[in-house]
Amino acid sequence: MNTKKPRARRASGRQLVIEYHAGRRRLSDAALDRTLHLSWRQAEASLDLLDLLDRYGNELFEYHGLGYAAIRWIIHALRLTDRDVVYDLGAGYGRFVIYGALVSPAKFKGIEIVRERAAHIGRAGARLRLRNAFVVAKNAAAADFTDGTKFYLFSPFFTPTLRAVARQLETCAAKRPITVVAIYHAAIFFSRQRWLKKVTASLAKNFDDVPVGLEVFVSRSGRTRVSREAA
Ligand SMILES: C[S@@+](CC[C@H](N)C(=O)[O-])C[C@H]1O[C@@H](n2cnc3c(N)ncnc32)[C@H](O)[C@@H]1O
Repeated sequence: MNTKKPRARRASGRQLVIEYHAGRRRLSDAALDRTLHLSWRQAEASLDLLDLLDRYGNELFEYHGLGYAAIRWIIHALRLTDRDVVYDLGAGYGRFVIYGALVSPAKFKGIEIVRERAAHIGRAGARLRLRNAFVVAKNAAAADFTDGTKFYLFSPFFTPTLRAVARQLETCAAKRPITVVAIYHAAIFFSRQRWLKKVTASLAKNFDDVPVGLEVFVSRSGRTRVSREAA
């Protein structure tokens, strides 16, 4: 008789992330970066600010990845379906795009100006065989994101770029309702846009612990916008 106990099967990286997203497993940000093939420190150390300014002009190149607990909060709050197209404008090394594409049925698209960072996202998506993760290496002010339904911005731009991006977002909103999740400077900027309505408080009732500095906005319908402007 075989008395050996069957060996417990190790969870795959994908399963680990799905369990983390469901709140059934704790993982550190470093462990999640490794699991998602997003370890970025070495690539980041090879970048030089003067070279970036020379290549792309005066943009905000500082990289901070949002913590995964906040990313998890956003993805739950957005209640995504397979009809959603979610953009990370200023996608960095792709924490939001890769995590989101793994745990949700929506399409995730990153726009990132720094070629090396965008390439990182492309490689991670390919290694995880994600068919719903995409990245474009481009200045967001010159990119086309009019197919988007939900947008996320972790304070990525100086105000002139933010203004150009907001103009295109407003054009998207004229075609279909959109949601914008913004943090810090971007959140303050979008609070002043009359075509957007802040809905963070209503989400806070459903989900505890709104991440610090984060606001969620939905676009006003054309009619509401016109009547507010006439008021
Ligand atoms: C604070 S990081 C955010 C990273 C990512 N969204 C996250 O939450 O983990 C901002 C990123 O925006 C990028 N960025 C800055 N200006 C940009 C522009 N005009 N177009 C596209 N990306 C830009 C920077 O290179 C940087 O990687």
